Amino acid sequence: MTAEFVRPHVAQIGYRSGELFIEQVPVRTIAEKFGTPFYAYSASAVCQRIEMLRDALHPAEVQICYAMKANNNLSLLRILSGLGCGMDIVSGGELERTLAAGVPAQKIVFSGVGKSEQEIKAAVAAGVGQLNVESTEELELIAKVARNVGRKVPVVLRVNPDVDAATHPKITTGTRHNKFGIPYEAALTVYARASTLPGIDCLGLAVHIGSQITDILPFRKTFERVAELVGRIRAQGNTITRLDLGGGLGVSYDGRSGIDIVTYGAILRETLADCGCELTIEPGRFVVAEAGILVSEVLYNKVQGSEKFTIVDAGMNDLMRPALYDARHPIWPIAEPAAETLAEPCHIVGPVCESSDTFGKYEALPPLVSGDLLALGVAGAYCAVMSSSYNARPLVQEILVEGNRYCLARHRQTVAAMLKLEQAGEWIAA
Ligand code: LLP
Repeated sequence: MTAEFVRPHVAQIGYRSGELFIEQVPVRTIAEKFGTPFYAYSASAVCQRIEMLRDALHPAEVQICYAMKANNNLSLLRILSGLGCGMDIVSGGELERTLAAGVPAQKIVFSGVGKSEQEIKAAVAAGVGQLNVESTEELELIAKVARNVGRKVPVVLRVNPDVDAATHPKITTGTRHNKFGIPYEAALTVYARASTLPGIDCLGLAVHIGSQITDILPFRKTFERVAELVGRIRAQGNTITRLDLGGGLGVSYDGRSGIDIVTYGAILRETLADCGCELTIEPGRFVVAEAGILVSEVLYNKVQGSEKFTIVDAGMNDLMRPALYDARHPIWPIAEPAAETLAEPCHIVGPVCESSDTFGKYEALPPLVSGDLLALGVAGAYCAVMSSSYNARPLVQEILVEGNRYCLARHRQTVAAMLKLEQAGEWIAA
């Protein structure tokens, strides 16, 4: 092949005897049993990522609160909770899911820039371990809810450190131009106010500067700014015992360029391990991205002008990152491409009726014909969770694999279930 074929790069997903395996299960076997498209996740890969993180952070004691927005499959949540992780949630729905997965409320951190009063009430009633406050208005509302139920609610203030994370503009959150957090300059005043509010137990600070960050410097800058604030909060006579350092750790979509996790750990320890605070991080993508694939079947090929299109049965509704962020996921044919196969540049596109329904132009894939199976790689984070039923295409099934076992962890949505939610006004003729 001329251009380089990007091969799978995690231990749990790869070719054996010419076939793609996830752990010890041939992907083709799962496809034959359940049909396509489907997401499949390697449980061992997820566990390994947690171990890697812990090793990199050691000897600092850092609580990992998995950002479940990346992938909220209940089986994965149970596995992560079993490993001792807490959860970072951003909605009432995520609260219900994480409680359903059996995560202790104390280990739940509730982030998010727009929590409704109802969501705050639900979180307080459940007794979550921490609410991350993003504005003074939200602070006052939490104080009111707390007073009404006669509770003291543990909060930290999310500050916006005004650090550019050097990632895609749509997933940058920590600059003064973004909607997130309390402005760095206002943090001291708001902290002082929070410390006086009955009903509020103001414990510390949170930051999160963006996602898919592969450069270590923005993390250093952010942690240094946090350390500086800790000093200033104490200098003004307030107590601070907790820091939540957010997520953002970038992964590799092309076999290269993920975050250097060992350096990340070293920087975190160097800047914050001695500041007398309990530390939490909220990684999402890093934990699950590389553990997942989206498996699809080739439907048709066609040529338009000089371009070749391979139409597959998964679409932008199943995986919208390419359409939304121009993201590029590697494609691994289930039958291993032979080294000498001639590459045939082609656009891999879905069946959805718009031109943004493309996974991109691939230069190094072997010719794929109707009935061939392929996997879109690095699809464990922000893929299934962001899917929709656009074009009345049901949400696809999710399979969990561990060793030689696998199970249908989430059924395919049915059109019948969708139809059940709808009703016509009585004046509309049947
Ligand atoms: N904490 C907070 C407050 C967050 O907003 C996020 C992600 C995380 C933690 C986890 O970040 P991670 O470790 O996964 O980078 N849909 C986009 C990513 C959006 C990230 C939103 N916030 C994508 O597909 O790239």
